[in-house]
Amino acid sequence: MSWLITGGAGYIGSHVVRAFRCAGLDVVVLDNLSTGYRDFVPTDVSFVEASVTDGDAVRATMDAHAVHGVVHLAALKYAGVSVQEPLRFYRENVLGMQVLLESVVDRGIDRLLLSSSASWYGTPAAEIVDEDEPPRPESPYGESKTISEWLLRDLARIRPELRQTSLRYFNVVGSGTPELADHSPHNLFPKVLRALTDGATPVVNGADYPTPDGSCVRDYVHVVDVADAHLAIAQRLDGGQRCAAVYNVGRGVGSSVFEILDSMRRITGIEFTPEIKARRPGDPARIVGRVERIGRDLDWHASAGLDEMVASAWSAWQHHLASTRGAS
Ligand SMILES: NC(=O)c1ccc[n+]([C@@H]2O[C@H](COP(=O)([O-])OP(=O)(O)OC[C@H]3O[C@@H](n4cnc5c(N)ncnc54)[C@H](O)[C@@H]3O)[C@@H](O)[C@H]2O)c1
Repeated sequence: MSWLITGGAGYIGSHVVRAFRCAGLDVVVLDNLSTGYRDFVPTDVSFVEASVTDGDAVRATMDAHAVHGVVHLAALKYAGVSVQEPLRFYRENVLGMQVLLESVVDRGIDRLLLSSSASWYGTPAAEIVDEDEPPRPESPYGESKTISEWLLRDLARIRPELRQTSLRYFNVVGSGTPELADHSPHNLFPKVLRALTDGATPVVNGADYPTPDGSCVRDYVHVVDVADAHLAIAQRLDGGQRCAAVYNVGRGVGSSVFEILDSMRRITGIEFTPEIKARRPGDPARIVGRVERIGRDLDWHASAGLDEMVASAWSAWQHHLASTRGAS
């Protein structure tokens, strides 16, 4: 009996794979390596290179590995890119979800965790958003995650035996081990670290937001804490219990871009003055999650603080640089 982890060769998925394996759960990874890395998957973990849009490959993997539960992380994730390529995002994220659910039904699988996103909330009206806020996605990416939640909700209505939940992650950062760096060209942490190691000036987009220091505020959460949330849910589902339909996964604490940059200065020892540029369209001033529900139901609480997240990201970034320089 195995858990199928789609997208397990990606940044978050590879941490989920390690958390499950450390807890003794069998896993198989299905990933098309479009943004993931084969070497993020431990060599002794079964790996299938295929797309979730390929129902035959998904069902063959379920059969070959006696899959009894699915963690679905495989998706394209850059909101800005999704505005330029909406159809590709709908195919990978929405069609992928549909094909996966059809396979889940076909094979009688009764437990599923979906990677959703705080992009559900768009620009929230509330200071701290709870799971009952209505959806206000502001990009095809956010819409694809919203639709994925709806597909799961609608299926669960007619299949009460399916125990499932959607996890709305906030800003996932850091690394559990130096080999698993976030290489994203669009996320704040790798962007700043890349600038610092390239000798370039880190950029702050907008310092005139209605926040205490003028920069955007986000709810940053360590990827290891996020992976542990998946494990807590999988163990609960394996124990025959149910979860709420949706959980926010964050720290419930807002940090501004300037606070992140202060931490980066402390941790890297590199002094710098950021360049202030104009706001990016569609960036909300503040988005922070209310995390009481997941704390109450699963006794899960993010444990890592800001400096710990930055320090782990910095050591993974240095490892990434050393390995790419060694390879060239
Ligand atoms: N990183 C964040 O802060 C964040 C925040 C909210 C939600 N999420 C969600 O978490 C999930 C994982 O994100 P990540 O940061 O690890 O991104 P990532 O790009 O590192 O990982 C995604 C993985 O899915 C694979 N993949 C993509 N499309 C696929 C397909 N059609 N079939 C099979 N594999 C496919 C990629 O190759 C990659 O390994 C995504 O669903 C993303 O939307 C991430």
